[in-house]
Amino acid sequence: MCGLVGYAGNKNAESVLIVGLISLEYRGYDSAGIAVIDNGEIEIRKEKGKIKALERILKEKPVYGTVGIGHTRWATHGEPNQINAHPHTDFRNSIALVHNGIIENFQTLKNELLSKNHIFHSNTDTEVLPHLLSEFLRSGKAKTIKEAMLQLFKTIEGKWAISLIFESEPDKVYFAQDGAPMLIGKGHGEYFLGSDLAALIRYTNKICYINRKEWGYFTKDSFALFNFEGEEIQPNFTSQQVKWEDVDKIGYSHYMLKEIYEQPEIFKKIIQTRIKDDYSLDFSGFEIPKEQLSRVNRIIIQAAGTSLYAGMIGKLYLEHLPKTTTDTEMSSEFRYRNPVVEGDTTVIAISQSGETADTLAGIHEAKAKFLKVISFVNNVNSTIARESDAFIDTMAGIEIGVASTKAFTAQLAHLFLFSIFVSTLKWTLSDEEKKVLIDEFKLLPQKMEAILKKAPIIEDWAKNFVNTKDFVFLGRKYNHPVALEGALKLKEISYIHASGYAGGEFKHGPIALITNEVPVVCIANQSDIYSKMLSNIQEIKARRGIVITIVTEGDTEARALSDYCFEIPECHELLSPILTVIPLQLLAYHIAVVRGCTPDQPRNLAKSVTVE
Ligand code: AGP
Repeated sequence: MCGLVGYAGNKNAESVLIVGLISLEYRGYDSAGIAVIDNGEIEIRKEKGKIKALERILKEKPVYGTVGIGHTRWATHGEPNQINAHPHTDFRNSIALVHNGIIENFQTLKNELLSKNHIFHSNTDTEVLPHLLSEFLRSGKAKTIKEAMLQLFKTIEGKWAISLIFESEPDKVYFAQDGAPMLIGKGHGEYFLGSDLAALIRYTNKICYINRKEWGYFTKDSFALFNFEGEEIQPNFTSQQVKWEDVDKIGYSHYMLKEIYEQPEIFKKIIQTRIKDDYSLDFSGFEIPKEQLSRVNRIIIQAAGTSLYAGMIGKLYLEHLPKTTTDTEMSSEFRYRNPVVEGDTTVIAISQSGETADTLAGIHEAKAKFLKVISFVNNVNSTIARESDAFIDTMAGIEIGVASTKAFTAQLAHLFLFSIFVSTLKWTLSDEEKKVLIDEFKLLPQKMEAILKKAPIIEDWAKNFVNTKDFVFLGRKYNHPVALEGALKLKEISYIHASGYAGGEFKHGPIALITNEVPVVCIANQSDIYSKMLSNIQEIKARRGIVITIVTEGDTEARALSDYCFEIPECHELLSPILTVIPLQLLAYHIAVVRGCTPDQPRNLAKSVTVE
């Protein structure tokens, strides 16, 4: 996924574009660039690497102008280098364009343009777009820019969002999207474009979400929106309840650390919003009728990465509480499964970004079988939310760190409350049982705060693992998915190879990994499988493995066997993943930091995988 920005106003476009790109850098950081109309001509600056590299170029060769576009890239076609960096131009440098997504038929189009003597410099799919536009205009296929744009939309295939400027219309920024997010912000005598709120919110909260197959242009004081048939559309600017602090580190070293520490406040907000004084649950805006939900006899949860691990815990909630048969599927596999399903099967899609291509493809697979789709998303204006029959906002707020933390626990919160909600519809939970569970849930924020207060313990451990090569994570039942999540957190931001396993699987092979250099994180909180986790710990000790345990306060047995032991407050077994994951988030973060990694922007990754 890439980040796009655009600006038309009275400010220096260079600085507005750079600030916007910095806010979007988590979407991709292989290269960055801007194009500005400088004294009637398009000036381009672009560079391999993070935005800091682009800033160095601009320091030597600044650009001056008040209209421009910018891009920060996560490479799909063409390696990350200066030539492949966006913006890309036509052969006369009269059009500059930035792009997010994939042009699936770019090679065919490029071959046609090459036969017409067009010269390309990059091996990106993007570069065909400005060349196509100039070909339409030069050949007379299009007499105006509007005609050229409409012709372009008919010609290219794939999911994409673009922004572009034309030398012939120096006061305008054009934009269009067909399956990738784009927002326009309205200021005083200025307009902004961004791939998500983070790029706009420090300038304005008056936002228009551009829908699929819409395009338009803006100047500093005008805005026009059309559909792909060329018909004008009335734009809908709404005021967003987001503050710039939501997208600023406000003193934390990294967004990831800020987002780990935000979790108690987010749970307080979830409790306040979702749980009424009479213990009824409020999923207002959720459009599946209750009687329909009560008839659901099978659920398939499909998701990717961290969201998949949340879904694995959601499965246990849905089977334990509303007694509903539930399966979890990797969305990247589910989309090819052609699953055998009956009428009352419902698919749940879980996605923080709401833009994950594989999960979106899973939704299309479900809809092809006429199944209802409910999505749990952290972005209610996302493609997945729009393409679902109903969605639930997980209320984690904007998550910028590439490694998902607060979104994961917020997903668990909503899967838990949703399972209770469905239980009440299916009469599988008494009022008394429901009250006990909800009262336990309400205690979570203070328990999360107690854990975070002890974060220095984990920070202190981290320096002992600077050169560790392998980590193993073990958990059972509700904490098996937490073991998988802990391994993912560590590997994706510290680059240490880490694997998570169900504790019971350990002796069926993975135990061969254990040496005196392999730390094993064992999630051994008090539960009916505590003794089984103790057996795992004994097995590791017998092989001189390094034992790291997450235990319940007051534990003595596991503590006595541990090389490192972290205590969490006592809690209901079903809710334990929401607490056990926090020390694992902190462990991954602090190890990444002592290893000199960049937790917010790990190599090779992007915040949302919008390509398949
Ligand atoms: C999580 O830390 C990872 N960055 C990644 O696995 C992520 O969970 C996955 O790509 C799914 O993203 P989504 O929740 O936005 O669909």
